[in-house]
Amino acid sequence: MLNSINISSNYSATKASIRRKLVERLGPDFNKGMNDVVRAKASSDFERLVPKEDFIIYIHVPFCDSFCRDCPYSKSVNKGNLEKYVRALIKEIEFIGKNKNNSKIRAKAVYFGGGTPTVLSAHQLSDIIGKLKEYFVDESTSITLESHPKSLDCDNLSKYRDAGINRISLGIQSFQDSVLKEMGRDYDSNRALEVARKVSEAGWNFNVDIMYGFDSETDEMFYEDLERAIQFNANHISIYGLMRNTDNKTKEAMIKRETDMYFHARKRLLDEGFVHYKINDFARDDKSINVYADLRDRIPLHENLALGTSGHGMTASAGNYLKYKSIDKYIDCIEKEIPPLSYVNCNDKEGDIVSNIFYGLNSLNISRRKFKQQFDADPVENTNDFIKHLARLGFLDITDEEVKLREDSIFEYNILFNEVYYKGIKMPDDTDSI
Ligand SMILES: C[S@@+](CC[C@H](N)C(=O)[O-])C[C@H]1O[C@@H](n2cnc3c(N)ncnc32)[C@H](O)[C@@H]1O
Ligand code: SF4
Repeated sequence: MLNSINISSNYSATKASIRRKLVERLGPDFNKGMNDVVRAKASSDFERLVPKEDFIIYIHVPFCDSFCRDCPYSKSVNKGNLEKYVRALIKEIEFIGKNKNNSKIRAKAVYFGGGTPTVLSAHQLSDIIGKLKEYFVDESTSITLESHPKSLDCDNLSKYRDAGINRISLGIQSFQDSVLKEMGRDYDSNRALEVARKVSEAGWNFNVDIMYGFDSETDEMFYEDLERAIQFNANHISIYGLMRNTDNKTKEAMIKRETDMYFHARKRLLDEGFVHYKINDFARDDKSINVYADLRDRIPLHENLALGTSGHGMTASAGNYLKYKSIDKYIDCIEKEIPPLSYVNCNDKEGDIVSNIFYGLNSLNISRRKFKQQFDADPVENTNDFIKHLARLGFLDITDEEVKLREDSIFEYNILFNEVYYKGIKMPDDTDSI
């Protein structure tokens, strides 16, 4: 287990050096990618967003009823254009779908994320899924709805099932009033308990998100929250340390405590028989793994069709691409039948290798054989210093078969990942005109 000396001496240096490495590797390439932007100008360019093999779909719903503390996701509380957004989503599916010529290919998973997808009515969700069914989805597809306890209609849960949803992810965060208040959530512990109970009693395949690391929270309060989620028979539990918009000094003081909380929770979940398959994700059994989250980062990578604003997608023909963050710009593009991409980066093998190791380690290990098959390069031998650097810093165990996060480094890697992912790399500005 990490100790405080290890953490405080390593944390800043580690973060700074990995960030430097990544920006060295990815920064210039991102810029180059931007200069080389292959901005699709005609509707036929939607063709490049059509997946060719097994794939997953992410649908971003960028609206929330209110904002919570330090939330890093792309969202707006202005719901004036929600109706238009739904219509644009349906059109986007149509524009991409009608270019698809292999009718047999079906998405393994669809994930409605946000923001807050439950700001959409069951009817709107049904319209979106109905359009997906015409091209990309069948009854074997796992379809998850990220749900907020306030807007999830828990007296009419069957409406979500009728709409085609077969998995619910509950953003409970905590069953404690003080924590919910500190986070700025607009419901109380009674509502959190009611929603978890109703979803569980209705027999859903469901996840509970629990956050930890709040000032008003004792370690025991977090462990109680975890016990509640276990008792509600959640099929899946995700635990997230609070990412703070505070300075590093304050952060460092929190890390020791959060590390202990993380490893305590992990041990409890493993003792309960849960499968630990991604840093923050635990499934009650193999069947309960979140197919979308698993396939998004695990090597071999699956193509990922990103619908709506903000997502990061990847197809064989387009390479990696980012969507516009701006809701207005997204709607405008779709109305003009232009793919709403802020950039596309088709052939950056070096950048792909480094970033896919970086994301891939979220799945705790990377098979060297599978990596070689997909990228025609060994992750250890062919990525310049990146992985060696992580290994020197003590993050990795490397064998002939795999590159694996060391058990005692899992949490530290998580902090690093969040720092780099959410703040470290400058993504292309979203103010380009279309
Ligand atoms: C898009 S939100 C989930 C859906 C819905 N918006 C909600 O809040 O219930 C995804 C998850 O991110 C986590 N999250 C939000 N803010 C966070 C923060 N500052 N640090 C770490 N995790 C955070 C929460 O657990 C939340 O459930
Ligand atoms: S945590 Fe969820 S509800 Fe709160 S601001 Fe973030 S996305 Fe919106």
